[in-house]
Amino acid sequence: MGPSEAVLQVFSGTVPRHFFVDSCLSTSDPIPSSKYHIKYIKKRVSTNMQRLACSTLLQSCVGGTYRFHGLGSGSFGNMTIRRSWLWSCKCQQSESVSGRSTEDVNGTWFLDNAKKLNTINGVVNGPNVLEFQDIQQTNQEKEVWTSNGANGTVRDDFQKTSVDSIENEAWDILRDSVVYYCGSPIGTIAANDPTSSNVLNYDQVFIRDFIPSGIAFLLKGEYDIVRNFILHTLQLQSWEKTMDCHSPGQGLMPASFKVRTVPLDGDDSATEEILDPDFGEAAIGRVAPVDSGLWWIILLRAYGKCSGDLSVQERVDVQTGIKMILRLCLADGFDMFPTLLVTDGSCMIDRRMGIHGHPLEIQALFYSALLCAREMLAPDDGSADLIRALNNRLLALSFHIREYYWIDLKKLNEIYRYKTEEYSYDAVNKFNIYPDQISSWLVEWMPNKGGYLIGNLQPAHMDFRFFSLGNLWSIVSSLATINQSHAILDLIESKWADLVADMPLKICYPALEGMEWQIITGSDPKNTPWSYHNAGSWPTLLWQLTVACIKMNRPDIAAKAVEIAEKQISRDKWPEYYDTKRAKFIGKQAHLYQTWSIAGYLVAKLLLADPGKAKMLITEEDSELVNAFSSILSSNPKKKRSRKNSKQTYIV
Ligand code: GLC
Repeated sequence: MGPSEAVLQVFSGTVPRHFFVDSCLSTSDPIPSSKYHIKYIKKRVSTNMQRLACSTLLQSCVGGTYRFHGLGSGSFGNMTIRRSWLWSCKCQQSESVSGRSTEDVNGTWFLDNAKKLNTINGVVNGPNVLEFQDIQQTNQEKEVWTSNGANGTVRDDFQKTSVDSIENEAWDILRDSVVYYCGSPIGTIAANDPTSSNVLNYDQVFIRDFIPSGIAFLLKGEYDIVRNFILHTLQLQSWEKTMDCHSPGQGLMPASFKVRTVPLDGDDSATEEILDPDFGEAAIGRVAPVDSGLWWIILLRAYGKCSGDLSVQERVDVQTGIKMILRLCLADGFDMFPTLLVTDGSCMIDRRMGIHGHPLEIQALFYSALLCAREMLAPDDGSADLIRALNNRLLALSFHIREYYWIDLKKLNEIYRYKTEEYSYDAVNKFNIYPDQISSWLVEWMPNKGGYLIGNLQPAHMDFRFFSLGNLWSIVSSLATINQSHAILDLIESKWADLVADMPLKICYPALEGMEWQIITGSDPKNTPWSYHNAGSWPTLLWQLTVACIKMNRPDIAAKAVEIAEKQISRDKWPEYYDTKRAKFIGKQAHLYQTWSIAGYLVAKLLLADPGKAKMLITEEDSELVNAFSSILSSNPKKKRSRKNSKQTYIV
């Protein structure tokens, strides 16, 4: 029995069997066979006319009235864009894409309503991880109050009022950032900065930026905007996209889109709205948004969990969308590793920062999306191969990351003593890492207690930088083991001054400096050391920190970070990011009123107040996956002729 058979056996029957209904075609006919799906997918990806037919099919599902427009070809700089068709909506006839309202669904999914934030605040005030400066500041605040003769209750009331007003302000700005399409809310723009003349593409709806907005709305019981976002972005997935005549894979989701008002075809006196996506063909650096489709799947599951409305994920077009993303990610290539191979700038860090290859952030999102998709995919004959491939990948991916990306003091010492140039199946130093790569900062920085997943792993290359989002989402998705997850949080606590400092949270640590910065970023003036992607601090990361802390039952860490952010984020006008080692300055080129800074803060607050709701984002450790490890190891013939310690000799 080969490894994949072993996995198959272990996983057989994991996906619940139930019929799903094609709401586009009929409300009663179950989808009968795999043939239908194959035909349907082909339709979506072939000619424009076929796509037109398919879209006509889709429009009745979505509720708006869509028409296709031939826009011909255009030449923009060195790029030819053949946007043959634009989704458009005749506003006069549009209906909203209505979802279930708060009243419809009563949060049945959340069984355990956990403690409120006040309780958490009560627990977290120990000064152990606060820096001297913060303690001083707190003391000064206390003195002011004492000298004014105010007692504790008045101060608490004052603090509560000011925190409430920050939250109210955040909600107002978040609502102001909502973008409408044919009268229905469909997303939020990236930033609403009235002081900036250089808007760039920050007036667009970014897929990744909308995730915290979407979660905030879900937590408020406002489901329509999320439902609309999911369904409209799905339509953009089958867009014809080319750069210099080359088309990327069909499952690709755009990085962002814009609602444009254009003259109505054949009628100069009227206008209509169209959705105009950017798949990276206009983005600075022409980066492919690999994370978009992964986030889309994660949000789709969260929508179902939170609203109780599973009809969206059960729709045939949504099922097809999930499969297209999966097929793109699971396609065979030349790669030896189970990790997803991507170019630099394919995620939140969307410009050159030396993260090409197998960056942790993409791997964590990939793993999370695979688990979410497995939960949502309706089993049918046509998807058996896909589910098998998905299960195999989940297993290989978690093994690879847990084994080879993990470092702590002990592992560092092992690497330090690595032999190199080992040719064999049972090599200890599989990737031929030269111990000289261990930088001096790392030896100083690694705490006695704690550890983390490194940023990237390639032959003869370990990127030892700490990347926050990748580590946090590895906790959330259970890509990291329970021990590793706790160790990551231990490290965040012990490196608080570096990672949280005056504004949570550093996007990565440490910064690239000097020659390294020149070579790796291409001397990028926006990514100078301790700025922007190069170890700048991003308040939006508060929400992922909060979900990770709640999952590990350590919400006090997140609550403390939120408290720090609260001290100045509103006063600073909700910047996109902060600069300097301690996050002292508002980022050099940071946009103000950045939507995901606002939404990230709100999600953190809402989840801390009701931690049970974090479940919509969390995927628990899969016991079948754990069991499958041993099956795989015992059925791997290569392992049998190698060393006794099976874990170290498994060839991925
Ligand atoms: C920056 C960020 C990217 C974000 C975009 C819009 O380019 O790097 O992650 O999506 O701004 O806010």
